[in-house]
Amino acid sequence: MSANATVMPPAPVDSEQTPQSRSLAALVDELRGLAAVPSLEKLDSLLEGVQLSEEDLRPYRSFKAGNYARHRVFRNAHVELLVLCWRPGQRTPIHDHNGSHGAVRVCEGVMWETIFEQDAQSQLRYKSARQWLTGGVTGAEVPDIHQLGNPDVSGQDMVTLHLYAPPLGVLNTYKVGSAEVGRYSLDQFIDGAGI
Ligand SMILES: [Fe+2]
Repeated sequence: MSANATVMPPAPVDSEQTPQSRSLAALVDELRGLAAVPSLEKLDSLLEGVQLSEEDLRPYRSFKAGNYARHRVFRNAHVELLVLCWRPGQRTPIHDHNGSHGAVRVCEGVMWETIFEQDAQSQLRYKSARQWLTGGVTGAEVPDIHQLGNPDVSGQDMVTLHLYAPPLGVLNTYKVGSAEVGRYSLDQFIDGAGI
């Protein structure tokens, strides 16, 4: 480093640097070029390699008082890319993606994920829980019933990047101890009823 190289670029929002990092625009270009619905492994690798700057996130970084806020970045026949913004304590209902694969990258904050399963009578019960820190990427198999949220004890906002294939259609929602399944169409869940 030269002696006068004292001006540092702005710190990225998403601090995990990888050699193959790509910008949000480059990710969208790659999604636009997909010829088929990608596998879950491909979704994971796409999100592992993305490096979001403050500039990338600015158009999508806004929050709401009630539910988390959803912002669509890109959607075509094969994939859907969303940015979600969560205040502490905001979380999804328990849900699955009705056959879509999903991958999530934590861009800012701490995400709690709770996994559920159905017993022999199709009643829902708790299975396990995981925590994801900034830079973490998690993929949801099919079927995968889960709940995501920004824990109320985090003390900070959370921003997450979500990639689904095929694009989200109907979502199924669940309740612990019940076999009842709720179904939400796109226009019903677009603003915080599930992801
Ligand atoms: Fe989900």
